[in-house]
Amino acid sequence: MTTTVTVRVPAKVNVQLAVGAARPDGFHDLANVFLAVGLYDEVTATPADTLRITAEGHDVDRIPLDRTNLAARAAELLAARYGRSPDVHLHITKDIPVAGGMAGGSADAAGALLACDALWSTGASRDELLDLCAELGSDVPFSLVGGAALGRGRGELLTPLPLGGAFHWVFAVADGGLSTPAVYREFDRLTAGTAVPEPEADPALLAALAAGDTAALAAALTNDLQAAALSLRPSLAATLDAGTAAGALASLVSGSGPTTAFLVKDAESAQAVAAALLASGTCRAVRVADSPAAGATVI
Ligand code: C5P
Repeated sequence: MTTTVTVRVPAKVNVQLAVGAARPDGFHDLANVFLAVGLYDEVTATPADTLRITAEGHDVDRIPLDRTNLAARAAELLAARYGRSPDVHLHITKDIPVAGGMAGGSADAAGALLACDALWSTGASRDELLDLCAELGSDVPFSLVGGAALGRGRGELLTPLPLGGAFHWVFAVADGGLSTPAVYREFDRLTAGTAVPEPEADPALLAALAAGDTAALAAALTNDLQAAALSLRPSLAATLDAGTAAGALASLVSGSGPTTAFLVKDAESAQAVAAALLASGTCRAVRVADSPAAGATVI
């Protein structure tokens, strides 16, 4: 009998985040091009008398350890679906910035779902797991599949995308987090009274991914939430400028922020840009990571 299961789950960066007008349900239709990057959280599931969460690693004092944690909700959702009690100890080892726009909470949810699924031998199909992921949050299905994918709807309807090569990234971690709903609300405020176009994936960006062409990807990176994130956190502009000045090919806010992402030419350039960003004093920490990365995987 399996007594413990550990799942490794990657962070993501949005290489295109096209945001439409708010829908009646409050969500926004997206053309969301996700790319998984090699920064990982791990979730270990062990049978227990009751549902319990513990955590170690970066900024774990900022994540809830009660049932409001998305990982706990994943265990409860899976248990309810299969008519069992969610008695499991989930231990989360965090390396993905907390509330940083890199899907750290979504990664933990996908990791908990996969770990509990293996521990409880539910026999759920991949599609059933993806449906449960979508119930947990818009970004959770992508954390399960990894690689590169276009997310439509609120981001949960995924189409895998071909990737022709690796990309090198530096991420600058900001002080504190940003609330995703608050960033979307700011997007609504900034776009009020304007005609927000239907979100569409950019063919030039998809071609750059398929070709593994870093320069073309750098020219095509866009994030419709960037203005909103900068409006709520104006200091991010200095971080973006510092990365560009240090030689990054492109700089943008990752998802809803406040982590900023810098696409660089190669591993050597990544080290130089990371050092310059840290020395600039415009961020709290830097991380270097490559893409793509595999989705949630039992290790
Ligand atoms: O899906 P998730 O729970 O991660 O979304 C968090 C919040 O982000 C939503 O409650 C909503 O305010 C905002 N959101 C949105 N449109 C999306 C995804 C998220 O407005 N496509």
